[in-house]
Amino acid sequence: MRSLLNRFRPRKLSPGNINGNGVRKLDAKEGPPKNADESAAIVEELNQTFDVSLAQMKNISEQLKKEMQKGLNQEGATVAMLPTFVSGRPTGEEKGRYLALDLGGTFLRVCEVDLCGNKEFKIQQKKYKVPLTLKEGDFRDLCDFIAECLDNFIAELNATGSILSSSLSSDANVATAAGSSSNNSTHDISSGSSNNGVEPSPIEKYQLGFTFSFPLFQTDINRGVLKQWTKGYSCTNSVHEDVVEMLQDAFLRKQVPVNIAAIVNDAVGTLMALAYSVPETALGVILGTGTNACYYEKIKDIKKWDGGETLNDEMVVNTEWGAFDCERLVLPLTVHDRKVDRESLRPRQQMFEKMISGMYLGEISRNVILHLIDRQIIFDGYSSNDFNKQHSFDTAYMSSIELDNSPDLQETRHILEDVLSIPSTSLMDRQLVKSVCEIVGRRAARLSACGIAAVLKQSNLVTSGCTIGIDGSLFEHYPCFEANMMQALKDMFGPYISYKVKFSLARDGSGLGAAIVAMLAHKNSQKAASSGAPTATSSSVSPSVAEEKEQTQPITDDEEKKTPKEESNIEASEFDDKQQDIKITNGNGKIPNQEDNKEQPDHKDKEQDIQKE
Ligand code: GLC
Repeated sequence: MRSLLNRFRPRKLSPGNINGNGVRKLDAKEGPPKNADESAAIVEELNQTFDVSLAQMKNISEQLKKEMQKGLNQEGATVAMLPTFVSGRPTGEEKGRYLALDLGGTFLRVCEVDLCGNKEFKIQQKKYKVPLTLKEGDFRDLCDFIAECLDNFIAELNATGSILSSSLSSDANVATAAGSSSNNSTHDISSGSSNNGVEPSPIEKYQLGFTFSFPLFQTDINRGVLKQWTKGYSCTNSVHEDVVEMLQDAFLRKQVPVNIAAIVNDAVGTLMALAYSVPETALGVILGTGTNACYYEKIKDIKKWDGGETLNDEMVVNTEWGAFDCERLVLPLTVHDRKVDRESLRPRQQMFEKMISGMYLGEISRNVILHLIDRQIIFDGYSSNDFNKQHSFDTAYMSSIELDNSPDLQETRHILEDVLSIPSTSLMDRQLVKSVCEIVGRRAARLSACGIAAVLKQSNLVTSGCTIGIDGSLFEHYPCFEANMMQALKDMFGPYISYKVKFSLARDGSGLGAAIVAMLAHKNSQKAASSGAPTATSSSVSPSVAEEKEQTQPITDDEEKKTPKEESNIEASEFDDKQQDIKITNGNGKIPNQEDNKEQPDHKDKEQDIQKE
């Protein structure tokens, strides 16, 4: 009885008001702020709650480096550190035409990539929105959808005479991707190979690199078992399955004459893509719907590597850093983060990602704003049905609100009142909402910098410096994200770091990167086949791939002659309104990281982009 009573006895509280983050709160009052000082006190309280101090940043990056080490040493670590079977670096002289698929958080992108050498390339691509039902349904249905989109894309390009007509007319002069299989044979593409004088077989014209932005335990350059879904996906019949085999089977079912030559994580694709034109690129980072990074690691330091000999002494490792600290040892979680995590599809997983990426930032901010509403601080204490819905506050809205510099914050008013149906907002409310966005966004940028710091240290690049290829809408569109990240790196390493380490946008780079890796893998398998040696890639081709080879119809000479080279920049029409919502985007030449190459989506498109991609 006594112990029961004890449970309800008032506990002695430590002096002051301590929040869930262990930070003393300022005395922000409940109820609406009556003046600028009271409002400033609320902002200060939020700043303290979401602060990541220098000491914390150092601690986080040290801990991540330790976890990366664990991942390199053994399977099953929290930070998985997955060997990618991509070793060596592109030279920019690779040539050939390849297909690429990029299954991202929201869109499927299908691309035809023309590697022209001299660091130049052309891309034609089309984006298809992946319906929610497919993200949660049977993976075979998703594979069928992908096969259908690809088939339509090929048909459209065929109609214009563009498709892959010159895929093998070129020399490959590469010093890159090699891997080795679990059966200990190695495949080397390091010296490149030429097809001059050799008539390609039809299948060689339909080689594809598949960017799959989920954790994959790879057993070869074109083999990989899904560890688990992340972001919004939860397809059945897929975890622990070889996703390449399943997609290849769908191609067979739909008679799509394409061979998956390589499977590549988006971070790896981004690294490869930028390295094609900027050789000093050493890291690939994704800051979009999800977050991740990859880098070159010495094979001798990947202690768990049992894939046999490789001809290069380094391999790209996919860190899967989004999973970092699910043990909650160092990340400065607030009550809002804990709530977002608890209500997410996979609680207690992807903790680092949940504090950084576009999929969650809006939801964290929504929870902070709800808390301010419940304390009667804003909106006269009223929310709305719309705003009460989980994920209703897109990260894209945060971005627009941060950009809103109008005197009365009109855009912010529009989002809150017109879009999210908040009954009425005062200027002070809107200013507070804007502060919430800035504070949550800034924390995400600082945490991202901790991740980058850990990888820079792991790969000894802090002093020598490097270029970091980055893709994802947070980096591309979110105001101040890049500046905040660089500031955090300066805080950690000193101001000189900004001269050493360069961030470079590799917009939609993973398609290009996947095509480069596909080319390298394909050349390798051709080389091995012509020498008669079974390689990991060719010997592990599934029966479905072999059958498909027989079905493939060659493109006739006539058709080839009809193909106008400049057609690779055609604007293709949309094939099916139901399945896709984005027009074809063409790129050519250098990685489109300059302003003039950026698409300028209208407000709505941008909102969707930022939130989802
Ligand atoms: C998630 C995935 C990872 C991917 C990242 C960015 O973290 O697990 O594989 O690279 O999102 O898309």
